[in-house]
Amino acid sequence: MRTWLLSLAVLAFGGAASAQDAPPPGDPARGKALYMSTGCWQCHGTTGAGGGWQGPKLAPDVLAWDGFAAQTRYPASKMPPYRAKVLSDADLASIHAYLRSIPKGRTADQIGLLKQ
Ligand code: HEC
Repeated sequence: MRTWLLSLAVLAFGGAASAQDAPPPGDPARGKALYMSTGCWQCHGTTGAGGGWQGPKLAPDVLAWDGFAAQTRYPASKMPPYRAKVLSDADLASIHAYLRSIPKGRTADQIGLLKQ
């Protein structure tokens, strides 16, 4: 009985840990729509570049899933919280996927006009 309970605990906590490391699968197109309808864009800009009302840049170089989800659920400071009741893990994962799909801008030496 004891061993059985112990392995159950290991399974439960081991499972929870790995579920947090990898983002749940998300759909970037749905994520973009949610990013707009939820209002993230108002503070973080429509492409996550920042420059909105007051949010920092989110993309490119998006936070890993753990930090991203923690900040959105329990923000560090002025950002309003989006708990699972108002934004499910699946929806948040799609927003994360949308932000990860935003390409990096070109560097100065990749822009022809700047080389002339
Ligand atoms: C009312 C403005 C506002 C809205 C709306 C908002 N944020 Fe934020 N966000 C902030 C501010 C301000 C910060 C800086 C940290 C803080 O105040 O908690 C931040 C920080 C973040 C960070 C951490 C960025 C980093 O590099 O540290 C993430 C991730 C984030 N927001 C995601 C989102 C998502 C996803 C949404 C929509 C579901 C959203 N935010 C909506 C204002 C906002």
